[in-house]
Amino acid sequence: MIDLSGKSAIVTGGASGIGRATAAVLAELGAGVVIADLDAERGEEVAKEVGGVFVRCDVSRAADCDAVVAAAVAAHGGVDVLFNNAGIIRRSTVLDIAEDDWDLVMAVNVKSILLMSRRVVPLMAAAGGGSIVNTGSGWGIKGGASAISYCASKGAVVNMTRAMAIDHGPQNIRVNCVCPGDTATGMLADEARQLGETVDSFYADAADRPLGRIGQPRDIAQTVAFLASDAAAFLSGAVIPVDGAGTA
Ligand code: NAI
Repeated sequence: MIDLSGKSAIVTGGASGIGRATAAVLAELGAGVVIADLDAERGEEVAKEVGGVFVRCDVSRAADCDAVVAAAVAAHGGVDVLFNNAGIIRRSTVLDIAEDDWDLVMAVNVKSILLMSRRVVPLMAAAGGGSIVNTGSGWGIKGGASAISYCASKGAVVNMTRAMAIDHGPQNIRVNCVCPGDTATGMLADEARQLGETVDSFYADAADRPLGRIGQPRDIAQTVAFLASDAAAFLSGAVIPVDGAGTA
């Protein structure tokens, strides 16, 4: 049912975690993948693994995003799938957040979607359509403790998704958002450490995890692959929790 043969995909934050798994799944399903990330060493590694192209990029910088899109066009002739996934978290409340941290989280998590999409949407429109998937978070829907900029940014991603779906639906561009729950990536391991927990104790807190486990990057990747594919042809503007019904 899910076949991405001949499609051109961009995955931001593709050097690690959810992005890395998604780059692999999209490639397995036949897509040509451009991996865009700050981390050149791991990004090159992923590109080699999945037979894709790596472009070093800071998604908060316009020129870098332009270069990523240009690389996808040069390598694969256009862009059919854009996975806006790169993201960072800073732990603070309104009382202790540094303004620079607020600006950084907003730039990486939200402005990046604007910078990538404004180049990709016209290409998709000219080609007759495409699929954009944004990575939100459960905390973009229900909020969470001591991550005020992150929660604000992911709330923005959720609503930006709906607005983009409305604006660009007439060009057959579908825009959806995956909202992962706790997922076993470097970001979650850093989180656990910052909260003074060991990774094991964090992962073992099963009370709020009905399926008895946290997410694995591939769980999110497979949802993204579905959204990217023609199997999801009438799915747009959706905000999809991929969290095993977890409430943590
Ligand atoms: P991760 O830390 O493993 O991967 C994030 C990737 O983004 C890294 O490769 C990093 O180098 C890259 N990146 C960071 N800043 C960048 C920038 N300015 N430009 C380009 N690349 C940059 O984290 P993970 O967990 O895979 O996160 C992916 C997305 O999933 C993020 O948007 C995150 O907020 C979201 N998410 C993760 C959850 C989790 O529990 N792991 C839960 C909910 C959402």
